[in-house]
Amino acid sequence: MRTEVGIIGAGPAGLLLARLLALSGVACIVLERRDPDYLRARIRAGLLEEGTVDTLAEAGLADRLLRERLTHDGVELAFGGRRHRIDLKGLSGKVVTIYGQSEIQRDLMDAHAAAGTELVYEAEDVSLEGIAGDRPRLHYLKGGETREIQCDFIAGCDGFHGVSRQSMPPQVLRTYERVYPFGWLGILADTPPVNPELIYCNHERGFALCTMRSLTRSRYYLQVPADEDVVDWSDDRFWSELANRLPPDVAARLKSGPGLEMSMAPLRSFVAEPMRYARLFLAGDAAHIVPPTGAKGLNLAVTDVRLLAEALAAYYRQGRTDLIDAYSDRCLARVWKAERFSWWMTGLTHRFPEASGFEQRVQMAELAYLVSSRAAQTTLAENYVGLPMQP
Ligand code: APR
Ligand code: PHB
Repeated sequence: MRTEVGIIGAGPAGLLLARLLALSGVACIVLERRDPDYLRARIRAGLLEEGTVDTLAEAGLADRLLRERLTHDGVELAFGGRRHRIDLKGLSGKVVTIYGQSEIQRDLMDAHAAAGTELVYEAEDVSLEGIAGDRPRLHYLKGGETREIQCDFIAGCDGFHGVSRQSMPPQVLRTYERVYPFGWLGILADTPPVNPELIYCNHERGFALCTMRSLTRSRYYLQVPADEDVVDWSDDRFWSELANRLPPDVAARLKSGPGLEMSMAPLRSFVAEPMRYARLFLAGDAAHIVPPTGAKGLNLAVTDVRLLAEALAAYYRQGRTDLIDAYSDRCLARVWKAERFSWWMTGLTHRFPEASGFEQRVQMAELAYLVSSRAAQTTLAENYVGLPMQP
């Protein structure tokens, strides 16, 4: 088989890239290790920047999103038992959208099924060959048979644990990482959200986040030690720990219910540089991970593939290579700012087991400063709603 761009991974990055390329008339094939049911069932974050919504809308993928989404003009921070609202819209002119990543995954898969995209699910043992030359190839196993795809370029959209990044020569690849000593335990429940806007709570027992998927479906998270086992958490234990960490007026109106899903996510900051080597590009989680505080993961992936699709379209339509050459630097400029913001917001809202008394006092002082300073709130707001795709 032969195509122009071989895409590894059918998460949001790979599927959106395939869509944007198709709209520009660039041919591609997507290889995905998992089956469609697995991809649809994955629960991820649910907060979209305006730039992300615009990109999905321009790609004809936002009909359901625009019908079903919630938009939020503000967000709350809680500490010392009290809530403080950050007026995102007033400070930045922008709002954020609540719409689950699993819904985006579904919308993307439906759009590709309707368009007849070449999408190979359950492609095993994907490997990359010849990426340094001008005839890269993808090998994989399907139904016990070995197959080969010849392509001009390969897009590694295969997430943090994928093969693409590992296929870059070690002397070229630099990685930067911070692993946090805690994770997020999340519950999804068909109960009305406790608050119309999100609440990020800094509490002595640990961080908690109140978020939602709709007006009838809530999502809550608790900071727990990184080695916590989800089997030790009953629904009741989760709800009572959450109530303990919320300000009393919020806890009093918390509605509990059976968990539809409960899962643990580790917290990590990670960046791989460069995001391109010869004919291989990395995009999304394959290149960078942020801790979920601020929900930047999906939004960053969308910016990457937008820039990549633009670069590849310019190559095929006009023979231009300048955007391909600039891809890594253009992405990384924005990635590092989101890394900084996600790291900062994690530090502001979580309890670090190793923090000294001094560091704890500084954290409280920063929260107190933030809620009393319009300048500080503006900084939070403009990062939270999303920095411009291109400065
Ligand atoms: N071969 C084929 N497919 C693979 C391989 C492989 N060797 N390794 C991983 N994959 C697939 C995974 O099964 C997954 O479906 O690549 C896909 C990567 O998808 P995601 O992990 O969702 O990553 P990405 O598309 O970059 O999405 C961006 O936003 O909210 C964040 O982290 C969150 O998933 C999220 C991300
Ligand atoms: C979510 O809705 O799952 C969510 C929202 C905001 C975050 C993280 C996760 O910062």
